[in-house]
Amino acid sequence: MTHLPNTLFIGKVLLHFPSLASTNASASEMLTEMQVSEGTVISTFNQFAGRGQMGNTWACLPDENIAMSIILMPKFLSPQRQFLLNCITALAVRDTLARHTNKQVSVKWPNDVLIEDKKVCGILIQNTLSSNQILTSIVGIGLNINQTIFSPDLPYASSLAIETGEQFDLKFLQKECFETLERYYLSLRSGNTHRVERAYLAQLYAYREVRTYELPDGTRFDATLVGITATGQLILAWNGQEQHFNVKEVALLRS
Ligand code: BTN
Repeated sequence: MTHLPNTLFIGKVLLHFPSLASTNASASEMLTEMQVSEGTVISTFNQFAGRGQMGNTWACLPDENIAMSIILMPKFLSPQRQFLLNCITALAVRDTLARHTNKQVSVKWPNDVLIEDKKVCGILIQNTLSSNQILTSIVGIGLNINQTIFSPDLPYASSLAIETGEQFDLKFLQKECFETLERYYLSLRSGNTHRVERAYLAQLYAYREVRTYELPDGTRFDATLVGITATGQLILAWNGQEQHFNVKEVALLRS
């Protein structure tokens, strides 16, 4: 089984380490210290100080999961449209996982990937911006593959192995992710913004469903997820009104 990706640039330079603190941190150091070609990937299957969204950590057992950071240089995107990078990354992981399970695989706003109701992938994207361009993007992907035991503190965490009852070749899945992400990226680069937005909505968890949401002050309300704005805000509708939310401003309550 070959692990060479059939891509133009993503994963052509693959810097794979036996262990790393955080692939995003290493990618960030590399970008400041040397010339890096677009599509370079820093990866490990033993990440011991992973960074998560909103200052959280991302923990995983050694040699069972994929941790990787893909360096992109999407100068064709304006900073206002940076959410499109989250969309294509989540979609690429979603499509990759969906090839290996018959269960429902979806993207949960802003950029988690779920198998049914369980999170199997977290994404952390760190961009450097100029006033009108995204100069570099570190696309960090943590993908739970063969781990079968998770902390009871993470009741919604799962892996591809738990959801399918099978074990997987990490290198092969990684290659599939590179190929799928590159297809979405090239599509975005050719201007297919609307196609990406439509694909994201088509796979969006809880889209058009009435669910309970919670504000940071603990207020709960039932609302329908009716869309995502061009800048990536969540659009909820209730009581005949619509409101837009940033990531830290609302949470979907799990039943
Ligand atoms: C989340 O909180 O859901 C995002 C988790 C992102 C984890 C990945 S693992 C590879 C990359 N390196 C990191 O330190 N974090 C991201």
